[in-house]
Amino acid sequence: MKYNIALLRGDGIGPEIVDSAVLVLEKIGKKFGHDFCFTPYLIGGCAIDKTGEPLPAETIDGCLASDSVLLGAVGGPKWDNLSGDIRPEKALLGIRAALGLFTNLRPAKLYSSLKEASPLREDIVKEGFDLMIVRELTGGIYFGERGRREGKYGAEAYDTEAYSRMEIERIGRVAFETAMKRKKRLVSIDKANVLETSRLWREIMHELSADYPEVEYSDMLVDNAAMQLVKNPCQFDVIVTSNMFGDILSDEASQITGSIGMLASASLGNTKRGLYEPIHGSAPDIAGQNKANPIATVLSAAMMLRYSFDLKEEADCIEKAVDAVLENGFRTADLIGTGSAEAVSCSEMTEKILEMI
Ligand code: IPM
Ligand code: MG
Repeated sequence: MKYNIALLRGDGIGPEIVDSAVLVLEKIGKKFGHDFCFTPYLIGGCAIDKTGEPLPAETIDGCLASDSVLLGAVGGPKWDNLSGDIRPEKALLGIRAALGLFTNLRPAKLYSSLKEASPLREDIVKEGFDLMIVRELTGGIYFGERGRREGKYGAEAYDTEAYSRMEIERIGRVAFETAMKRKKRLVSIDKANVLETSRLWREIMHELSADYPEVEYSDMLVDNAAMQLVKNPCQFDVIVTSNMFGDILSDEASQITGSIGMLASASLGNTKRGLYEPIHGSAPDIAGQNKANPIATVLSAAMMLRYSFDLKEEADCIEKAVDAVLENGFRTADLIGTGSAEAVSCSEMTEKILEMI
């Protein structure tokens, strides 16, 4: 079978890590008899440099014509002082909206071989944790009305959050379905003691829970959730939350694994086409030095095989190869101090993963 994959390498370490994932996919293609075809498109700072815009129309069209999209990372100091509309980040929001990717899956798992890397105390993480954040991705305050105006005290700025029943229901269903495939526990996180959007959110999540009697469902306020994540992360299985709370909590969840260079993510909509990217950023300080950890992007490619192409065995094969490489003690610089004395480079890490496939 032939699969067309749009490659958005982006900025900083983006190109190196995406190229690692491409090598891994090519090896998987050979082993299992699939034909993965890659077409690169510009996004982020490199797109601004070449075309004047962070998300050229050609990139959107190319992604829409593809079976799935693999993204590295965007942004860097070079483009930090541009105005809101032509910042590299704008491209991320634009591509999510253009592809209708309303679901963002962000798994945060503590690898047993990397336990010492977690900033949490040993007694807190001794059981390990493996949670999945389901973040709403195309609504809420990120996409609400915003602007500047004259207010009571002079110039003021405002951003608004709106959520419709349709938007809450569809992300809620994804979350309940995700919980059904995991440990059947779901916590919905909101700020229903203050925000009206949260009150509607909570109401609808409760309605949905009636359709999923097997799922153990509860609500949690976002401030408490931020606390519970560092107090007892093992209590969580699946978390569902709004765009902004998900943005914040997913950074917290990834940090407590101690290995943000390992975490993948998937953004999905109503079709099989998804956008897969590492959770970490473009790390401009180490770009082009062959020091980056390619694992998060390689695992993002595995998520693509699982969610977009239904290639479960192939996805398992990549994940097992990564586990084996870590068990064998190989570490990129970001993971050092957690097992091996000397760091391997991005390309060496990629080589090790390829050997295990
Ligand atoms: C993320 C990022 C983006 C977001 C930014 C870069 C727009 O923080 O993917 O979590 O807030 O969604
Ligand atoms: Mg973020």
